[in-house]
Amino acid sequence: MSGRADAPMTTDRAIRERADALLAAMTDEEKAGQLTQYFYFGFMRDVPEGEGDDLHQPNQPGIVEAALSRGEVGSLLFVRDPAETNRLQRLALEGNRHGLPLLFGFDVIHGLRTILPVPIAMAASWDPAAVERAQAVAAREARAVGIHWTFAPMVDVARDPRWGRIVEGAGEDPYLGAAIAAAQVRGFQGEGIGAPEHVVAGPKHFAAYGAALGGRDYDEANPSDYELWNTYFPPFKAALDAGAGNVMTAYMPLNGVPATGNPWLLDEVLREEWGFGGWVVSDANAVRNLSTHGFARDLSDAGVRALQAGCDMEMAITDPAYAHLPAAVGDGRIDAATLDAAVRRVLEAKLRLGIVDEPLVDEERAREVLSDPAHREEARRAAESSAVLLRNEGALLPLDIGAAQTIAVIGPLADSKRDTLGPWCFDFDLDETVTVLEGVRAKVGERATVGYAPGIRPAQRTFPSMFDMFPGNAPEDPPHFDDEAELRRAAELARAADVAVVVVGEWQNMIGEAASRSSLELPGRQLELLQAVAATGTPVVLLVMNGRPLDLRWATEWVPAILDIWYPGTQGGAAVANLLFGGAVPGGKLPFTWPRSVGQVPMTYGHVTSHEPEKQDRRYWDEASTPLFPFGYGLSYASFAYDRLTLDRDRITAGESIRVSVEVTNTGRRTADEVIQLYVRQRHGRTARPVRELKGFERVTIDPGQTRTVQFSLGPDERRYWHPLEREWVIDAATFDVWVGGDVTATLGATFDVEGASTA
Ligand code: BGC
Repeated sequence: MSGRADAPMTTDRAIRERADALLAAMTDEEKAGQLTQYFYFGFMRDVPEGEGDDLHQPNQPGIVEAALSRGEVGSLLFVRDPAETNRLQRLALEGNRHGLPLLFGFDVIHGLRTILPVPIAMAASWDPAAVERAQAVAAREARAVGIHWTFAPMVDVARDPRWGRIVEGAGEDPYLGAAIAAAQVRGFQGEGIGAPEHVVAGPKHFAAYGAALGGRDYDEANPSDYELWNTYFPPFKAALDAGAGNVMTAYMPLNGVPATGNPWLLDEVLREEWGFGGWVVSDANAVRNLSTHGFARDLSDAGVRALQAGCDMEMAITDPAYAHLPAAVGDGRIDAATLDAAVRRVLEAKLRLGIVDEPLVDEERAREVLSDPAHREEARRAAESSAVLLRNEGALLPLDIGAAQTIAVIGPLADSKRDTLGPWCFDFDLDETVTVLEGVRAKVGERATVGYAPGIRPAQRTFPSMFDMFPGNAPEDPPHFDDEAELRRAAELARAADVAVVVVGEWQNMIGEAASRSSLELPGRQLELLQAVAATGTPVVLLVMNGRPLDLRWATEWVPAILDIWYPGTQGGAAVANLLFGGAVPGGKLPFTWPRSVGQVPMTYGHVTSHEPEKQDRRYWDEASTPLFPFGYGLSYASFAYDRLTLDRDRITAGESIRVSVEVTNTGRRTADEVIQLYVRQRHGRTARPVRELKGFERVTIDPGQTRTVQFSLGPDERRYWHPLEREWVIDAATFDVWVGGDVTATLGATFDVEGASTA
């Protein structure tokens, strides 16, 4: 019997029975195939034989197709053209005796065709509902082209901005990170696995990849147990509680044991303690790399140790370690039940998704979905709500179109479509991508003159990027570029203008995976350009295109207005123009502490004091110990007053909650959003406690003169922490300070006591 059923069955029991029947009919080779996921790089066919490197193999698609015809592939990644997903799906179905379809996975990180702001930007919106809507758009487009599963959200807490992947996550804070992680899972998955127009979410990279030493991508991570449980795990737990169906392992060794071969991590924590029932996939080539780590003896041993640790599926380019699993079952290094348990998880995912019964995708409908104008609207709104206003001296912003007759837009990033989109997107449409220059031009129309000068050539990486195999990834060095003449031309354009809008930042290939940096300075001659423009005396609005904090010390002293626009996506320029001219009001807040310079990193707000307060401020003799901008910071075109912070009680027991309320008034003249943030400090406890911890936030829209009352609940969940000696979650009896305000420096405070300690 083949296990192929006539009608869709979706109840848990029906799915289990169907998976049983399939398992009973499968050979070990077929089972290992279900646990194998290949990249499918169709474009590699065009690479001449002998010219590829290990990522770049001309025969790679052929190897995958041969495995498909043997029925030995469970999943593919990187295919995103609906006609191509259908072609490959048919090959898989023909090759597989049981009619088992492929799962198509892909990195739908911030949109598929409609590119949303990068994840760190979406986190800066502090608006989980907006993040959920945005990722639902991404899911809809992905599913329409035949993708079933996204390798997202990336929920790695990142505390060292030298690490390029900070751009893919939600920043430094576990509480904000957990809220954004859960929102993304809800957006991707909808009602759950199998929901129409949605995809399975795979939070990654489990775990503590963001703790890479020195911020060097892939380097080892040695977080303490305290940090692991209190900082790095919570966003994963939140993503799983929101129903995420998949988890991806991390590349690096975690406290000595590679995450992909780590039974404590994948089995004890993930499955036993957290009850995760979905399937685990390795990061790319992470199983074979178990031998690179000096951990596995050879490829076969790597496969055995990863599977035994709890890694169900291997992501490979060619030559998978899991192809050796049947031999390992044969000689007793793996027992059949371990293999079956992993295969069952993959089969159940396919059954739940409904693709066993409906494996193909409607190509015509895909075209319609991808061109849905509502998706562009969502992208524009997301970009508007994620921008963070860092400085606005003399209320230079918003600009008045009538008053600014001549506008100079300056900097190569101001008119770079590819860079406006940010890293981690592959299926974009450059024609419909709006740069800052285009957005400003469209916005002002005939009402002002807009001139443009790049001023300098694009900066280049010192070493190439692994993404350079995708066309257009590295910025082009313009031919015949006269550096000195162009710099002068930019300054002259600025001098003749009423206002200069200068765009600086990092080119998108300078951030993301394998894009760690040893410096946070503006790359290339950007600071020089900015200084030349500022020296003209024309007021400067600085737009920062980035995914990590950059060294803006000079700018914060000399430039009146600074707006962080991140990599704002397809509609970035339109959103930025709305923000510049007041059609939208910035309301984003920083999801990380912005250091003054690279020497301060890692720098987080939630640190512990070990000396008397005055000594805290003098940790460096050559630099202040404060950040350039604090966590949670962001200005508005309005202003807000916080008042009447009240607690419903001043004394509770460990299991009880306290209700906090605060009144926030818009004291400005424009309707605007404010992110109201609640921080606590436990004054004493069973461990040293951080100076502040974020434990609540809400983004609200407030009209001028209007007062909104916002309430928060501080319950046991907000007060528990994992104790490294007791190896337990604990809640202490202690005195707590509470502050509510617009960033971590909030001063409006109150105090309450918790009586009766407990484990929780
Ligand atoms: C990255 C993952 C990604 C995978 C597939 C890896 O190099 O670390 O985050 O999902 O590639 O593209």
